Amino acid sequence: MNIVVLISGRGSNLQSIIDKKEEGELDITIDAVISSVPDVLGLQRAKKAGISTHVIHHEKFTGREAFDQSLQDCIDQYHPQLVVLAGFMRVLSPAFVAHYQGRLINIHPALLPKFPGLNTHRRAIEAGEKEHGVSVHFVTAEVDGGPVIAQAKVEIKADDTTDTLATRVLEQEHILYPRVLRWFCENRITLKKKEVYFDNTRLGIEGMVIN
Ligand code: GAR
Repeated sequence: MNIVVLISGRGSNLQSIIDKKEEGELDITIDAVISSVPDVLGLQRAKKAGISTHVIHHEKFTGREAFDQSLQDCIDQYHPQLVVLAGFMRVLSPAFVAHYQGRLINIHPALLPKFPGLNTHRRAIEAGEKEHGVSVHFVTAEVDGGPVIAQAKVEIKADDTTDTLATRVLEQEHILYPRVLRWFCENRITLKKKEVYFDNTRLGIEGMVIN
């Protein structure tokens, strides 16, 4: 399976995918890594792994549509089977999302539909949640709102800070995203009419829960 990965920063999820591929556990080709921000660590990680990189700097565009069109043109030269958002912090237009329907996925650090948006760890602690975690989902026009493919859960401890919780969630992110990609390689995941199927069985709102 060939993929294009979109990032905006640190790229630790990208690294987890590169590592699993290099360990021979993931049968993918990462055709390109595209960043919406220049000079980020994720771009260095991609270059070190010998992957083509592009920067499409969102600040250089006056509107969302122009940015999205440029992004789409860049992605489509590779004809990827899957477009993987890994810490990509831009809201995408409905036309862009529709163009990649069923082959555009995102990782979000919360148990969706709880806590879409930013500052998920702090908000989960403040809400008195007992558990938190990470979701991988198909992208729809609604921010962090698309159908969930899989989740990994983390217990919230009484003495957790935003940082300690974020660290444990990130560990799970690095397990979950490569695993979901492997399922895609094995043709086990499909999106039909806004619902996710795993081995032809329709999943519930949590998707596959791996722990
Ligand atoms: C990750 O925690 C990812 O789940 C989150 O950004 C971080 C990127 O880290 N994504 C979102 O919040 C998307 N709404 P990384 O650059 O080290 O992979």
